[in-house]
Amino acid sequence: MRRVLVTGGAGFIGSHFIKHALRVHPDWYIVNLDKLSYAGNPDNLTGLPDPNRHKFVRGDITDHKLVEKLWRDCPAGSGAGFDAVVNFAAETHVDRSILWADDFIKTDVLGAFTLLEAARQFGVNKFVQISTDEVYGSIERGSFSEDSPLNPRNPYSASKAGADRLAYAYFATHNVPVIITRCSNNFGPNQHPEKFMPLFITNAMDDKPLPLYGDGRYVRDWIHVEDHCTAIDFLIARGQLGETYNIAGGNEVENVAIARRICQRLGKPESLIQSVKDRPGHDRRYSLNAGKLAALGWKPQRDFNQSLDATIDWYAANKSWWRKIKGGKFKRYYAQQYGQRL
Ligand code: NAD
Ligand code: TYD
Repeated sequence: MRRVLVTGGAGFIGSHFIKHALRVHPDWYIVNLDKLSYAGNPDNLTGLPDPNRHKFVRGDITDHKLVEKLWRDCPAGSGAGFDAVVNFAAETHVDRSILWADDFIKTDVLGAFTLLEAARQFGVNKFVQISTDEVYGSIERGSFSEDSPLNPRNPYSASKAGADRLAYAYFATHNVPVIITRCSNNFGPNQHPEKFMPLFITNAMDDKPLPLYGDGRYVRDWIHVEDHCTAIDFLIARGQLGETYNIAGGNEVENVAIARRICQRLGKPESLIQSVKDRPGHDRRYSLNAGKLAALGWKPQRDFNQSLDATIDWYAANKSWWRKIKGGKFKRYYAQQYGQRL
């Protein structure tokens, strides 16, 4: 058995990655370390393929004693600790990082340090640091490649940039076998309804306003979460140590166009779309050149419009999943963020 530590595996992308990995790698045993923050959701882990090869550990990636224990309890055949570590765990919502950045710096930076340090001391064959395209900042024209300078412009992306470069430093200085991925915006089932697409889809279903920031002409490059997961899996097998890889969907779309399509698909009036106060420091456009990954032989498989429709349909068919989240503490955050009651 190959032993793989996945952190943040009760979140959106981490839970999809675990499902994908259990499906395609019958020889993987996955330890899933997740603190179940407001964004972590055990419901994301129901219906796992072969659940006996998944062990959930509730805990914090900044807890070095616990992290050390996970390594010590991991008798990998190779004697080198985990075969692979994939670090998804992070505070991830830009708007929350603007309200209060403390947890972002703790989890995203100190947490990555704690894992890297354990990897250095106790061994790992591959350490994948899940970074983000947001570390490059905004670009008006053209696209960022892996050697573009980093220019994070909000506390979330700055803390992710810190972790990204710390991971590289552990490769350069300590020979920890690190690979860094920078992916564009993900969408799909099980994404927390604080994020743009699920928020707009679920508000529209309830005939609530869709709070579009500023002029709505901000551009993100969208990738389906399952394409992101296959790219990570591909890089675990084929990525070069010490290298960084952009992962992109190749679907650059303005927010307002997505808001309109959501209304259309759900048969709701576009008058639900309401322009609200803009996000401070709002990055205008993200765009990646993913040629380096394409040259290795990977490209995304999913059509954007079809996947968006399927995603909208998933939220329509899984109301109990998101109502549980939106019915709880989320209401307080929503009132603070949008000045409106949900
Ligand atoms: P998410 O917010 O849905 O999930 C994060 C998970 O991390 C949750 O399960 C949470 O409980 C867990 N977590 C938070 N703090 C923790 C801690 N201190 N210790 C242990 N677990 C902790 O996030 P996501 O959208 O699935 O993103 C996963 C990763 O992918 C993040 O590193 C994010 O920066 C990166 N990423 C996300 C996107 C995107 O569009 N969502 C794009 C590129 C990169
Ligand atoms: P988000 O899902 O927060 O991802 P990120 O900012 O990390 O790319 O937001 C995606 C885009 O949608 C971004 O341009 C901000 C915008 N947005 C809104 O217009 N209204 C909202 O309520 C939210 C949450 C986002």
